[in-house]
Amino acid sequence: MKSEKYTKIFEDNQKWLESRNARDEDFFENLYNQQNPEFLYIGCSDSRVPANIITGLDVGDIFVHRNIANVVSNNDMNLMSIIQYAVEQLKVKHIIVCGHYGCGGIQAALEQKSFGLLDSWLKNIRDVYRLHYSDLKLLTNEQDLQDRLVELNVIEQVENVIKTAYVQKSYVKNKFPTVHGWVYDMKTGKLKDLDIDFDKKLKKVQLVYKLE
Ligand code: CO
Repeated sequence: MKSEKYTKIFEDNQKWLESRNARDEDFFENLYNQQNPEFLYIGCSDSRVPANIITGLDVGDIFVHRNIANVVSNNDMNLMSIIQYAVEQLKVKHIIVCGHYGCGGIQAALEQKSFGLLDSWLKNIRDVYRLHYSDLKLLTNEQDLQDRLVELNVIEQVENVIKTAYVQKSYVKNKFPTVHGWVYDMKTGKLKDLDIDFDKKLKKVQLVYKLE
């Protein structure tokens, strides 16, 4: 049984394509022939954090990967393939890791219990917690702890992106892409740039993970 909301998707799609065609009759034809996005976005799967809507970017502007709690793991062949393709073929100028306050994945990682299959995924976040344990244990307020882990997770995943050979090789050759960390506040709709100093981060990462 198709719900009203389900059926409406196709009605809205028809209205949308008609309005795009009215503005520019070559719009779909041009996009079909090539994509040239400037951004690769790695964010959380959470339905309340849609990449195109929060950034205001249009069709064709942003290459997107989303998973639980915006994790960048070097044994995730899906994401590693996306990073390679985005860097080598699409030649994106910016890679963004975007976390969000109130992230269910971060909250789950802070709970001291098993979530079954999800445990192996949450381990990536628990590793971030372990790396920053001495600072995080000072936060006695649960909300402060969650919020800080959201930010530290973004920073750590930015480093994981920089650890890939594709990013380092391209940056040496082309001076792009640079990698950024953002946090989205679901309560207010505000997007915050953590202003990570890319060159400084790259130097730090390359002390151990130099893969040029
Ligand atoms: Co989330």
